[in-house]
Amino acid sequence: MTQVVWGWSERLCTSYAAMDETHQEFVMLCAALSENKPETFLNRLDALIAHSITHFDQENQWMEENSFPPAGCHRREHDAVLEVMAEVRRRVELGEVDLGERLAEEMPLWFEHHVDTMDNMLAQFMVKETALVESEFNAESADLQAD
Ligand SMILES: [Fe+2]
Ligand SMILES: [Fe+2]
Repeated sequence: MTQVVWGWSERLCTSYAAMDETHQEFVMLCAALSENKPETFLNRLDALIAHSITHFDQENQWMEENSFPPAGCHRREHDAVLEVMAEVRRRVELGEVDLGERLAEEMPLWFEHHVDTMDNMLAQFMVKETALVESEFNAESADLQAD
């Protein structure tokens, strides 16, 4: 049976380019968890965890800057998945190798759902906020020119 390798696809695109750039890196690191090289699993998981901390911090900061209403819920999903990754890391190190395989299978599903809900909502909110600020700025510039 041919194994289908998970990777970046158009379905993961949001309306916010900077977010998509970070997400492409996440997908690459996440897909790498499925490589069949148990001796390097922890290194690959560490790379995904390090990326995720920065990735989630950036989104948490965007939510704060834009007063995004469901920020608490989104932030909690980030915190929860970081906790799961840390726990799996700890247990794989103790010899529960199959948990690493489970994580490699589950993370793409988690990410697709997270993008479809939380990240897309945030991306659309930021695009609208940017458009609103730009239209207010243009209206103010027009007023100044008219004076
Ligand atoms: Fe994200
Ligand atoms: Fe997110």
